Amino acid sequence: MSALQENPFTGPIAAEYDVLRLMCPNAATLAKKIGDRVAEWRSDAGPIDGFEIGCGTGISTLAALSARGDLKLTAIDSAGEMLDQARTNLADYALAGRLKFIEADALTALRALPDAGKDVVISNYAIHNFPDDYRKAVVWEIFRVLKPGGIFVNGDRYAMDDPAAHLADTQAVVRGWFKIFTKMNRLDLLEDWILHLLSDESPQHIMYFEPALEQLRAAGFAPVTVEFRDGVDTLVTAVKPGG
Ligand SMILES: C[S@@+](CC[C@H](N)C(=O)[O-])C[C@H]1O[C@@H](n2cnc3c(N)ncnc32)[C@H](O)[C@@H]1O
Repeated sequence: MSALQENPFTGPIAAEYDVLRLMCPNAATLAKKIGDRVAEWRSDAGPIDGFEIGCGTGISTLAALSARGDLKLTAIDSAGEMLDQARTNLADYALAGRLKFIEADALTALRALPDAGKDVVISNYAIHNFPDDYRKAVVWEIFRVLKPGGIFVNGDRYAMDDPAAHLADTQAVVRGWFKIFTKMNRLDLLEDWILHLLSDESPQHIMYFEPALEQLRAAGFAPVTVEFRDGVDTLVTAVKPGG
């Protein structure tokens, strides 16, 4: 399996990423919850070192950095168009020395890190984009790079395990998107997002809920906790034992 993955966050999807606020309001909700969770994690531990997978334009990055003043974060993304926006949006944090960006594929970037060096690893709506074998390798790498007692906080789309329920949810999502994009007169952008969704939902990519939790447990995480779930939008935390 190659460490390098195709990344669909290019062109109009990247340039007009802001529309996600309308398409998936839970993305911002989960970014805020990630920040809250990072702020709570060993709040008396002193400065902590974090790593973000798929920072995009910086929405979840900002949520974490603003929630915890003693967090230093390395944020990676393999889509230059997304990362450029994050660099602009979060220039002050980078200047203050609290944030470093790396344009890199998630697995490559994780493999470059030493064992047990990070206190927290965060991600928001990136891991579901990965094919399952790549995701499994990423999960094992996250476990390796965390310190004992460290925490992985992931906000993401975890598909419903019941195929009929999942189909009904996806159909409702697509119906909602038609309303949003028709009102904006942007059926061109709707087309791009539907193609993106079809990739996320394909058999090699779809991240089913229970198997994904099991994938975390198999890597060694315990406990694995579902902190929030609304439809497919879910916040999962996974602790590396020890510490
Ligand atoms: C839906 S966006 C989420 C961005 C941000 N976390 C947020 O909360 O808005 C997913 C991000 O994951 C990035 N991504 C997808 N596959 C990746 C990979 N294999 N390696 C690194 N980044 C990846 C995309 O470029 C995109 O910016």
